[in-house]
Amino acid sequence: MSEQPEYHTLIRQNLMLIENERREIAFELHNEIGQNLTAIRTAAQLMHRQSEGRQTHPVAESIVSLTDQMYTSMHSLLHRLHPSILDKFGLSDSLLDLITFVQEYMGLKCHLDVMGNLDGLPEDLQLAVYRIVQEALTNAVRHGQATETDVKLFVSKDALQVFVYNNGTQLDSDLDALIRHKSSGIGLLGIQHRVQAWHGDLAFKNLDDGVKLSCSFPLAN
Ligand SMILES: Nc1ncnc2c1ncn2[C@@H]1O[C@H](COP(=O)(O)OP(=O)(O)O)[C@@H](O)[C@H]1O
Ligand SMILES: [Mg+2]
Repeated sequence: MSEQPEYHTLIRQNLMLIENERREIAFELHNEIGQNLTAIRTAAQLMHRQSEGRQTHPVAESIVSLTDQMYTSMHSLLHRLHPSILDKFGLSDSLLDLITFVQEYMGLKCHLDVMGNLDGLPEDLQLAVYRIVQEALTNAVRHGQATETDVKLFVSKDALQVFVYNNGTQLDSDLDALIRHKSSGIGLLGIQHRVQAWHGDLAFKNLDDGVKLSCSFPLAN
């Protein structure tokens, strides 16, 4: 694999294109589907009120509850497509929001430690780190059946380090083999690309009681 500077620039541009596309899709979904769902819900509520005591009453009620469910799942999809909280509140708050979601909906006890100021980092590096932590937490649950994780971030003048520990089952191969394995997804490859794009280092290792993902990114002074 080439280590030329143009290679890193290309990966970074490619990742930015993908993220921009995801942002566009999230906005389209939000505007088109969100508005129509709200309109259907309002119509069903009206029908519900007007049909009290008649046969249409329970049908209208179930349309309201179905649209509510669709709204909730659309919002979680939008959040995965593009975490808009990142644009508004920066990386620290977005990671807190992510671990709250993971604890609530994926049953993973999660602890976050941040040392230093994350919000001064370049915006696309913040997005890269968010995506890396998001994938590592999803993998911890999906593949490791982990019940607890620790996410630690350290920012100094020269570097950003990101660690995700989990208490799940051990890895059965090294990182390169996991990425090369044909049945595997693109999650670890995405992490590797994001780390390479920022000239960073990546390690994924077994510990006595779980698994540790470490990334470090040099920061320009
Ligand atoms: N936290 C983890 N614990 C155990 N195995 C893992 C973990 N993360 C990844 N793996 C292994 O690496 C493979 C590739 O992961 P990934 O690229 O994220 O693909 P996907 O999640 O779509 O299967 C997984 O299929 C799994 O075997
Ligand atoms: Mg994955």
